[in-house]
Amino acid sequence: MEVLGFFEISVVLFVVLHILRIYFADCDAILHFYERFAKPPERRLRGKVIWITGASSGIGEHLAYKLTELGCKLVLSARRKDELDRVKNQCLSLAQKLFPLTFEEDFLVLPLDITNFSTHEDSVAKALHRFGKVILRQLIFLVNNAGILQMGLSMDCDFDVVFPVLNTNVLGTISITKAVLPHMVQNRNGQIVVISSASGKSAPVPYVAAYAASKHALQGYFNALRMEVYDKNVGVTMICPGLTYSNLFRNAYRENLETRRDLVLPPTTMKPERCAHLIVIAMANCLDEVWIAKPSRLLELYLAQYLPLVRDWWIQRDNRNRNANLTAASRTN
Ligand SMILES: *[C@@H]1O[C@H](CO)[C@@H](O)[C@H](O)[C@H]1NC(C)=O
Ligand SMILES: *[C@@H]1O[C@H](CO)[C@@H](O)[C@H](O)[C@H]1NC(C)=O
Repeated sequence: MEVLGFFEISVVLFVVLHILRIYFADCDAILHFYERFAKPPERRLRGKVIWITGASSGIGEHLAYKLTELGCKLVLSARRKDELDRVKNQCLSLAQKLFPLTFEEDFLVLPLDITNFSTHEDSVAKALHRFGKVILRQLIFLVNNAGILQMGLSMDCDFDVVFPVLNTNVLGTISITKAVLPHMVQNRNGQIVVISSASGKSAPVPYVAAYAASKHALQGYFNALRMEVYDKNVGVTMICPGLTYSNLFRNAYRENLETRRDLVLPPTTMKPERCAHLIVIAMANCLDEVWIAKPSRLLELYLAQYLPLVRDWWIQRDNRNRNANLTAASRTN
C-alpha cells in the first residue's frame, strides 16, 4: 500500500511540476533541459557552414547574427539582395570583433526566389562552389526559414491568396531541400532545420487556415523525411515558434492579393533574438522537434498534443467572441 501511495504521489507531483514549469518557460520541456544542461552550442557549431533562407529579416536575420557570434560560416538567401547585403555587413562586423581570422568569403549572399524551383539546383552549386572542400568536411545545416503568412477568414478569402502561401511555404521549402539533400546524403552528414510554426501543431485562432495548412504540410513531409534519412546520418529539426516579432505580419496577404494590413502584436509576442537563441540550441543538439512560445500558447500546444478534446473546448469557447469580432473587423477594414 505504502509503495503504491509513494508512486501515485510521485506521478501527481511530476505532472504538477510539469504544468508549473510551463508558466515559467518559453519552450517545451526537452529544449528547456538542453538550454540548462547541454554543452554550449559553439562547441558543435563553430566553423560549420549554415545556409539560411529568408535571411533578410525576422527570425532568419537574427539567427544569422546568433550563428555569426558562434563562429559559423553562412550562406544568406532571400529575394532582396540589398537587404541581404545589409545583414551580411552586420554579420561581418560582428565576426571581425570576435574572431580575428574572419574573411569576407565566410559570408555568401545568394539571392534566391524560393518559388522559382528551376533555379534551386544552380543555387546549391553556387553555395558548394564557395565553400567547396570545407562543406565536405563539416556538418552542413540548411535552415528553411523562408515563408509567408496570409490572414483572413477562409470564407472571405480569394482562392488566389491560398496558392502563394502553399507554393512558397511548402513547395519552395521541399524544392530547396531536395536540391541540398543529395550532398548531405553523399557526405553522410547534414541537418535540415525547418522553421515550422506552432500553427503547424495546432491553429488556435480563426484567420490563418492557409498558413496552418502549409505548416501542417511541412510537419508531415519532414517527419516522413526524417525516417528516410536517419540511417544516412542526416537529421531533421522541426522548429515550432508561436507569435514572434517579424515582418511576417507586415507582409501578410489578407483577403485578396492587394490588401495588406499591419497587425498590432500583443506585448507577450516573443523577441526574435530569444527565438533565435533557442533555435541555435535545438540545432546544436540536433533535436527532432521543439516548441518555442509564451506560456499560454505553450499550454495550448501541450493540450493539443495530449488532451485534444480539452484544447478544442477551451479554444472554441475563447474564439466565439473573437470570431464575431474578426468578422466585423474584416468587413469594416
Ligand atoms: C526564374 O529564374 C530564371 C533564371 O534566373 C529567370 O530567367 C526566370 O524569369 C525566373 N522565373 C520567375 C517566374 O521568376
Ligand atoms: C470583441 O469586441 C468587444 C467590443 O468591441 C470587446 O468587448 C471584446 O473584448 C472583444 N472580444 C475579443 C475576444 O477580442
